[in-house]
Formats: sequence, C-alpha cells, structure tokens
Amino acid sequence: MTGLDHLTDEANAIAAQDDVSRLAHLAEDHWIDYPRARAILEELERLVRSPERTRMPGLLIHGESNIGKSMIIQKFLRAHPAREFNTETGFLQVDVIAVEMPSAPQERRLYGQLLMALNAPYRPGDRLAAVEFTALTLLRKVAPRMIVVDEVHNLLAGSAHEQRSSLNLLKFLSNQIKCAVVVLGTRDALAAMQTDPQIASRFPGIEIPRWQENEDFRGFLAGFERQLPLRQPSRIATNRAMVSVIMNATGGITGQVSELLSRAAEAAIRSKRECITLDLLRDAAGRRLAA
Ligand SMILES: Nc1ncnc2c1ncn2[C@@H]1O[C@H](COP(=O)(O)OP(=O)(O)O)[C@@H](O)[C@H]1O
Ligand SMILES: [Mg+2]
Repeated sequence: MTGLDHLTDEANAIAAQDDVSRLAHLAEDHWIDYPRARAILEELERLVRSPERTRMPGLLIHGESNIGKSMIIQKFLRAHPAREFNTETGFLQVDVIAVEMPSAPQERRLYGQLLMALNAPYRPGDRLAAVEFTALTLLRKVAPRMIVVDEVHNLLAGSAHEQRSSLNLLKFLSNQIKCAVVVLGTRDALAAMQTDPQIASRFPGIEIPRWQENEDFRGFLAGFERQLPLRQPSRIATNRAMVSVIMNATGGITGQVSELLSRAAEAAIRSKRECITLDLLRDAAGRRLAA
C-alpha cells in the first residue's frame, strides 16, 4: 500500500493493517500536541533545568478532570527517563520523580509514595519518623531535579491538619532536596493551595481550560485525525458542522473529545466508510448520551 498523506507515518503504517490491529490502535492514547500543552512542557523543561537556589521554583497545573493534565506529565516523563547508575552514589540517576497525592493525604503516605517511586521498600505500617528519614536520605542521594505530585486535590479529603502538613511537606521537600516541585489537580487543588499565601506564592498556577471553538481546537482535531488509522481523510477540523457536534457532545473536555472521535473512527472502520462523516459522528455522540 502506498502512503496516505493525510496521516502521520505511524498511522500510515497502521492504516495498512487489518481491522483488528487498527481497532487496537484506536483503543490506545496517542499524544497530540497543542499550544497550551506545549507551553506547559516548555515551562517544565525550564524548571527541571533551574539551578539550585535557596527558594526553588514550583508550579501548579490545574484543570478539570479528564482535561489532559496527566497526559502532559506522562509526555514529560518519556523525555526524562531514569538514566544509568551513577557510579559515585550507586543510585539510579533520576531527574524527575512522579507520584500521586494519596487519597488519604497523610505525610507518611506521601513519603511512602516517594519511596515506592524510588523502588525502595516501604511498609504501610512504618512510623512517620522512620519513613521520613529513609525517604529524605534516599532523595538526597538520588538528587532529582523535580518532584511531580499529581491528584493534589486529594488533599481536600484530609482534615485541616493533614492538609496543612501535606502542603508544608511539599515546601519542605523543595527546600531540602533543592528541586522544583510541580503539582497537578483540579480547581479544588487550586483552592486548597490558595488557603496558604506562602504556598500560593510558591506554586504559581497555570490552567488547562476546556476547549473553545477556535484555531487551537481545530489544530488539535486536525492532529487527532492524522493519527487515526483511516484510509480516507475526514477533514474534521475544517467542517463546521462536525466541529460543533464535537463541541456540544463533549463540552470541550479533551478526554471526551478523544473518546468520541475514537468511537466514530471505530464505526468508520466497521462500516467500511474509512472516514468519519457527520452522520457517524452524530451517531457516536448520540450513543454517548444514551450510555
Ligand atoms: N495531548 C493529548 N493528546 C491526545 N489525547 C489526549 C491528550 N491529552 C488528553 N488526552 C485524552 O484525554 C484523556 C484524559 O487525559 P488525562 O491526562 O488523564 O486527564 P486529567 O489528568 O486531566 O484527568 C486521555 O486519556 C486522552 O484520551
Ligand atoms: Mg490525571
């Protein structure tokens, strides 16, 4: 099969395969670049390179659930994988350590998450002082340039005391390990962090908003279409009716856009239409509402 120029090279290769492989490809997430994500990735690159200083910089990435926060961190982590053993310290060289705020936000559990991210033993029953000591000792040896804490809105599940001590722990880590700390969460996370002016000033916020019907969104849709393994172009981004259906059905939430387009693409393969049409899209959107 000759190349299809409406597709990326990877999608081109998949488009030539049988329906089973193509449907499997649809079920996976594929990174699509868009300006806000690009700006955040650039900021993360800047932070991971920032030299040691007394007050290390932080960042709060916030947006609704399913908007694409964790995808950005996954993308960033792929660019910063663990490297070879550092022969001086005997530790794996890791620039970025990523964990999630535990759903019961206690310092001990957050240290536990860090230990697990470092492949270090952690028994949930261990006492705070012991876990803290081990985690800090290890972190100083590994000396990451950045610690990422996702799902930081889980803070709100804790008591006022737990919230405060977990927030202070983030600041403490950044001071002790001399690394940038990046947190991600919903608007609730923003609210929790703003209760403390010191924390708020330490973690300037950047939002991933819902999509609007504009050039950025059309760009995202065009990028999405290029990685769908369909043999005919759908030209979604330049089709006003299709863009409106997508916007209305998804409310501009990235995860829902992705789900809708994947469902429509699946129908395009099964029906042998080989492109997403307005009808297939309406159908897929209708089934979503019915579900
Ligand atoms: N840059 C992107 N490229 C392609 N799909 C994306 C992108 N960002 C988000 N998505 C889609 O949205 C879904 C939800 O994204 P996720 O990062 O898990 O959201 P959040 O962490 O904000 O809840 C992903 O599983 C994926 O299908
Ligand atoms: Mg997430």
